[in-house]
Amino acid sequence: METVLITGGTGLIGCHLIRKLKEKGFNTALLSRKKLSFNTTPVFTWDPDKNIVDPEPISMADYIIHLAGAGLGDKRWTEKRREIILSSRIKTGELLLKKVLESGKKPKAFISASGIGYYGTITSEKVFNETDPHSNDFIGEVCRKWEEMADRFKDSGIRTVKFRTGVVLSHKGGALDRMTTTVNLGLGSPLGSGKQYIPWIHIDDLCNLYLKAVEDQSMTGAWNAVSPEHTTNSEFMRILAKVLEKPFFFPAVPSFVLKILFGRMSDIILKGSRVSAGKIISSGYKFEFPDLENALKNLLSER
Ligand SMILES: NC(=O)c1ccc[n+]([C@@H]2O[C@H](COP(=O)([O-])OP(=O)(O)OC[C@H]3O[C@@H](n4cnc5c(N)ncnc54)[C@H](OP(=O)(O)O)[C@@H]3O)[C@@H](O)[C@H]2O)c1
Repeated sequence: METVLITGGTGLIGCHLIRKLKEKGFNTALLSRKKLSFNTTPVFTWDPDKNIVDPEPISMADYIIHLAGAGLGDKRWTEKRREIILSSRIKTGELLLKKVLESGKKPKAFISASGIGYYGTITSEKVFNETDPHSNDFIGEVCRKWEEMADRFKDSGIRTVKFRTGVVLSHKGGALDRMTTTVNLGLGSPLGSGKQYIPWIHIDDLCNLYLKAVEDQSMTGAWNAVSPEHTTNSEFMRILAKVLEKPFFFPAVPSFVLKILFGRMSDIILKGSRVSAGKIISSGYKFEFPDLENALKNLLSER
């Protein structure tokens, strides 16, 4: 059986992905900063700040999926937090590559998370695809450096895939939890202008894409991981309220309130680009949840 090593696999995406990989017959192993016990998956430790990694999982990995990264929406973007957001993705990746090359055993593929923030947080009708350049704002720069780090694996002869991921909608946790809480309180309303797009993806589809990246040897480079439907914040909140059978209120939450609450981080709430799923669809991938209403019905029925 082949082994997939996942960094940051204790988080929202990783926990779901482990189950999918197991169902497909893969062994899984995690690399975590914490000593944990995880049912059927061995957890190995690393301390990226001190450049310490347990060498065992590196030498047994047939594939590496790099999900580690400090949450973008967890805290205000102070200078210190910006540094943590960057280094938790890039220094960790560089450390992995160093250890892979030292081990003498190259994995068959290195698959890295990235974000649709690559294109910048811009509210416009332009539909961004994988050939568009990165933005120069903070998150755009984070994604550029994240992907450049991943490309160093490619330069070392390892197949490399990067997923520019939209907002991941999950059964439990993540952005949907916060939105659902607001709507359940009867406070469902658009945020800011409500015209900004929310490129989203159902967690099952995202994990299917990671599986495809493991199994499909022809897959390389950057791929948008977003559903084909383009949804504005206002439409998103309206559909969520409908599925939850709760009221949908106007007026919108004013932008200045969100700016006071979240500082510069409010950009990722108040602005949002349209992002194309065309490339992944052209590769033959069929979305299980292409439309928001069915995605939400599926996720919320399991709560
Ligand atoms: N969820 C989304 O909507 C979304 C959208 C776009 C991109 N992504 C990206 O996809 C990746 C996984 O997302 P997720 O939602 O599963 O994230 P998550 O739930 O926050 O999990 C990320 C994991 O990264 C590790 N981590 C956190 N801070 C770290 C640090 N300072 N240094 C090293 N490792 C650290 C943690 O694992 P340990 O504590 O076990 O070390 C954590 O469980 C992230 O890089 C995220 O930016 C997510």
